[in-house]
Amino acid sequence: MAESVFDLVVIGSGPGGYIAAIRAAQLGMQVACVEKDATLGGTCLNIGCIPSKALLESSEHYYALSHQLPAHGIVAGSVQLDLAKMLARKDTVVKTITRGVEGLFKKHKITWARGTGRIAAADRVDVAGTQPTTLRTKRILIASGSAPIELPVARFDGARIISSTEALALPAVPKRMIVIGGGSIGLEMGSVWSRLGAEVLVIEMLDRLVPGTDAQMAKLLHRSLEKQGLRFKLRAALTKAETTPTGVTVTFAVDGAESRENCDVLLVAVGRRPFTEGLGLAELGVRLDERGRVAVDQRFATNVPGIYAIGDVIPGPMLAHKAEEEGVAAVELMAGVAGHVNYDAVPNVVYTNPEFASVGLTEEECARRGLQVRIGIFPFAANGRARGMGEIEGQVKVIADAATDRVLGVHIVGPHASDVIAEAALAIEFSASSEDIGRAVHAHPTLAEALKEAALAVDGRPLNL
Ligand code: NAI
Repeated sequence: MAESVFDLVVIGSGPGGYIAAIRAAQLGMQVACVEKDATLGGTCLNIGCIPSKALLESSEHYYALSHQLPAHGIVAGSVQLDLAKMLARKDTVVKTITRGVEGLFKKHKITWARGTGRIAAADRVDVAGTQPTTLRTKRILIASGSAPIELPVARFDGARIISSTEALALPAVPKRMIVIGGGSIGLEMGSVWSRLGAEVLVIEMLDRLVPGTDAQMAKLLHRSLEKQGLRFKLRAALTKAETTPTGVTVTFAVDGAESRENCDVLLVAVGRRPFTEGLGLAELGVRLDERGRVAVDQRFATNVPGIYAIGDVIPGPMLAHKAEEEGVAAVELMAGVAGHVNYDAVPNVVYTNPEFASVGLTEEECARRGLQVRIGIFPFAANGRARGMGEIEGQVKVIADAATDRVLGVHIVGPHASDVIAEAALAIEFSASSEDIGRAVHAHPTLAEALKEAALAVDGRPLNL
């Protein structure tokens, strides 16, 4: 097949890759994006963020009918679950959004090279697929993402011992589900199946959930999830997972005391690893770090001139929006535009109910850095909108520098925390003080008022508490 010449070839069409491709096209580059899957969008759109949020939403509606709406004076007759329809709806959401990316590629005249990309040289990508081709290019951007980590004691079999991919498409609600890992995936997918009727046990090796987040707030979330019926074993070391004809027997030890639990399905969600297989990186001498991530400099350049990398495959949190921002910054820098990612202002959200959203430093990280801080907390129980919604669990915590009042971190457990956190991210981006947030007019009645009140609480003067 004839060789094409591009300004940029992006490998991978997840949020990092496809957004980078669009931004590069906006900047006037001729772009190709190599994607081996049948649809564009990568993990996030196909088997991650988007389908999981569709199921979180559906399962919340189902749960609300029997558990929350009666308090609103709404009494439904017998509530039935049509799981097949719920899953089909999720698939439709995915299809619509991935087709949308295809449309965006057409709009920006981005070539979708269908197949598996292998970097043959710094200016050449071989694409293996039904129509093998070679792309000639000035630059290459690796955006190949990540894959679930497999545990040697609990290898995936796709049916009984599963990853998040299969957890998005279980054909029936398991009676009992065990989740290994109390991180984002474990808690989100555990919540989905718990709300749909499964008994869920989460086994976490550390002494807390969602490591890396503010400990006090993670504890709040933990208590809230327990109230909903999820069970947790912390400080638990998984030693064995044996599949039986009917399920899986899981053996683990807490403080040396061994226990066994049975389940129908075992979800292993212990993190993800950078996905670099088959790219030809070793042959080219592209340097990886000690954890197998592609090493890049501040311009997202690898040690091989012309080859760049962004997203889950490089260091940093494995988050779609972090990858997107890196994709934009990387191609802007290539084009001589001032691209930049502010890693101090990357929000993180766990889409449980209540949601857990945070941005900036945790209280523990401030202490580690020796920062003197003042902290303001405001509970949703004192927020009029949350009362009206009947969702009063959780609180907002604002951490500000004691001397300058600059906002260092905001942590929210509560309703729509994922939306409220946007204001906090902006505040940190603009180096706002807690006084700035406290002085800004917030519409009433809104959940965002809880953030304003927490900011006022930094100065010891919340108005509604
Ligand atoms: P994670 O890193 O968020 O959590 C993994 C958890 O498993 C940790 O709590 C860890 O201590 C625990 N763990 C590790 N090995 C263990 C073992 N042998 N036994 C018991 N516990 C063990 O990883 P997760 O949930 O798999 O998610 C993967 C990636 O995807 C993360 O980087 C996450 O940020 C991202 N993601 C983000 C979402 C969001 O932003 N809402 C949703 C889902 C995933």
